[in-house]
Amino acid sequence: MTSHALAIIAGDGIGQEVMDQALKALDAAERRFGFSTDRRDYDLGGRRYLATGEVLSDETLAELDEVDAILLGAVGTPDVPPGVLERGLLLKVRFAFDQYVNLRPVKLLPGVPTPIAGLTPDRCDMVIVRENTEGMYAGAGGLLFEGMSHEVATQESINTRHGVERVIRDAFTRAQARRGHLTMVHKTNVLNYAGDLWMRVFTEIGEREFPAVERAYVHADAMCLYLVNSPERFDVVVTDNLFGDIITDLGAAVQGGLGLAASGNIDPTGTHPSMFEPVHGSAPDIAGMGWANPVAAVLSLGMCLRQLGEGDAADAVEHAAATLLTELKTMAGPDMGGSTDDLGDRIATLVADPD
Ligand code: NAI
Ligand code: MG
Repeated sequence: MTSHALAIIAGDGIGQEVMDQALKALDAAERRFGFSTDRRDYDLGGRRYLATGEVLSDETLAELDEVDAILLGAVGTPDVPPGVLERGLLLKVRFAFDQYVNLRPVKLLPGVPTPIAGLTPDRCDMVIVRENTEGMYAGAGGLLFEGMSHEVATQESINTRHGVERVIRDAFTRAQARRGHLTMVHKTNVLNYAGDLWMRVFTEIGEREFPAVERAYVHADAMCLYLVNSPERFDVVVTDNLFGDIITDLGAAVQGGLGLAASGNIDPTGTHPSMFEPVHGSAPDIAGMGWANPVAAVLSLGMCLRQLGEGDAADAVEHAAATLLTELKTMAGPDMGGSTDDLGDRIATLVADPD
């Protein structure tokens, strides 16, 4: 029987609550499809940091590097200063494990209320490939004359040919396996150096290696417009780190909210483990209430299973989550039609037996 080693970082707040539901779905998938997982729990996040001062030690990082994939709930508690966990845990894992693709499906599932009037599921089914290791997030820049009236702050966007090529090639590969259309989103008209490199690489790789994939280009500001009023334009979208961060939140809104948005931080080479997580955070405002929608976490598990080569299990998990959504009254809060735990049980039952 195939066995996959999984690191489980449930984290804080609703992170733990939604992870419990994803793991029930995983139990059901293992029984039905005949594989197993060796799950290793890691107590990391805001609670752990406040108690011990540890965010993510090099020893823990080395242990994580041994597993096949990482599942993350969400990290963050109100008393942890901003940036500590983002830089010390989330970005540290992304950079250390060279997870250069941040993959975000934006798909409107049937029965889900979207804020876009008249939008139907057939018009909204795309994946956004966000560069995940460079750009504005590389940490290049600094402060001069800090605290003085002539203080200077710089924040530079780092774009290497190596980094741009590999993420664009990944996006073309995904487009080829889908509807054969790839849109690059940037701001080439203003970011003339970075944008120029991105555009040349996009054209070169497209012409040379993926002549059958249709190419389109959209400025990042126009993307915000089109994502709302004509999402049917998009199949696969590739963009840099910062633009990707912004447009994927917009995508989450279009597809019905944070409770439904899944993501993967992927090292497509498989050298290091990839990490899958719901887009949402630890939601301290609703933690402990049983109001969290577990679907984002369950869909993230689905992405993880696909990456591990368990395609049938991934299909079953995604199908179960989608079926549950057609039965919900609202997508979050006390009126969903069941607690987080109830919804998790129903998803697991649907994974075990879809009929
Ligand atoms: P958040 O995503 O935790 O919550 C934003 C809003 O969406 C809240 O009103 C929340 O109740 C709601 N919400 C989020 N997930 C939901 C779900 N599954 N079901 C129903 N409603 C849901 O973002 P916020 O409030 O900005 O951050 C809270 C904490 O989470 C902070 O400490 C932040 O640093 C951390 N965070 C962690 C992330 C991660 O672990 N990757 C990502 C984003 C935030
Ligand atoms: Mg974000």
